[in-house]
Amino acid sequence: MKILFIGARLFDDVAIYTKKNSIKSIISESDPNSSNLELADSYYVVSRGMKEPMEIAIKEDVDGVVPLIGIDKPLVEVAIMKETLENDYGIPVAAAGVGAASICANKYKTKQFLVKNSIKTPEYFKVTREDYNILDKQNINKNPLVLKQDEGQGGSGINIISSIGKIREYFREYETALAEKFIEGPEVSIEILRWKGKSVPLVPVYKGETTFEGIHPLKKIKKAPLEIEGVNNKNNNKQIQKIAVKIADSIGLEGTADIDIIFNPDTNENNVIEINARPSGTRYITYAATNVNIMHELINMVSGQWNALKLKNKIRKCSGIEIPVGNYPSNKNSYLYREISNINPWIIHGPPHHQRITIQGETIAKTVEIAEKLKILEKNSI
Ligand SMILES: Nc1ncnc2c1ncn2[C@@H]1O[C@H](COP(=O)(O)OP(=O)(O)O)[C@@H](O)[C@H]1O
Ligand SMILES: [Mg+2]
Repeated sequence: MKILFIGARLFDDVAIYTKKNSIKSIISESDPNSSNLELADSYYVVSRGMKEPMEIAIKEDVDGVVPLIGIDKPLVEVAIMKETLENDYGIPVAAAGVGAASICANKYKTKQFLVKNSIKTPEYFKVTREDYNILDKQNINKNPLVLKQDEGQGGSGINIISSIGKIREYFREYETALAEKFIEGPEVSIEILRWKGKSVPLVPVYKGETTFEGIHPLKKIKKAPLEIEGVNNKNNNKQIQKIAVKIADSIGLEGTADIDIIFNPDTNENNVIEINARPSGTRYITYAATNVNIMHELINMVSGQWNALKLKNKIRKCSGIEIPVGNYPSNKNSYLYREISNINPWIIHGPPHHQRITIQGETIAKTVEIAEKLKILEKNSI
């Protein structure tokens, strides 16, 4: 089995898995100084874009391609490459196709897709620099709005506005915006895997509450499975999994996606705000809470090893917690320690200053115990 991985930066998450399964690994990467290049059996430094990776896949006659790309921008280009490689060369690519990728890479198209498929999403409208004065009439000091750009991730181009001054400031920088109703409530993510028409939703993850300051979930403590006070969590979590399957099926997803949701406690409804059709930052906590490693599953897909039913039976019901730690003194932030097990219940990942520790336990209380021992959580802080 020979697989081309596009992008080296996330390869440390799969290096052990490829070695253990005797998979010959090739990386294509545009940054000659990228980390992890030496972890693969061989690598190519290429120009940006998908033209050269596609040529390598054909020339090397690989069995499959796994894009290890955690950003939105190249999604559509990857999707175009996927269609050529799969249709003309029979080489499977573990990524979303053109239809799904173009919807997910653009927040406005995502909204239109959700509305068309009757999936609950916060109310929205388009505003331009010329007509932004209409926003003030919406009583924004009482009903704040979230202004977004069609493209962006990690909170870029996003501003929560509750005063006309802030709107003016926003439109000095941007010409148009997607205005969305601000929802106050818990933020949730769920990852879903889909291949050859079969979907497997994983676990709803709690990512903290929304704030007027718009602090991105990347900076908060995450817990899984999701538990909201005063809610029938078993039903609600099933409901979220159903939403994920509906989205994945209607969009024709292939590979993996993470769906971002805000739960509205006033209406008890799950509002979908985003679909990210690529490996996402929640993959570690999903791994802790289910024992399913999304990156490994992508490899299984292109190697013909993926079976939805088997995977569903493999899902373990554990708990996970993930804590941003900045810089934590540890020699475990390496490809050698990316597997969670009974002896190794926690992993550390992420670049300097943005490291995170993810812990697995039978219950949330057990994960908290470990976190307190690691001195990354104050006693009784959550
Ligand atoms: N309608 C909303 N109500 C409240 N907060 C929101 C809303 N939309 C976005 N946010 C906040 O902004 C963050 C980023 O928004 P999102 O649409 O997921 O874009 P990104 O691609 O940057 O992750 C969310 O995780 C949330 O904290
Ligand atoms: Mg998001």
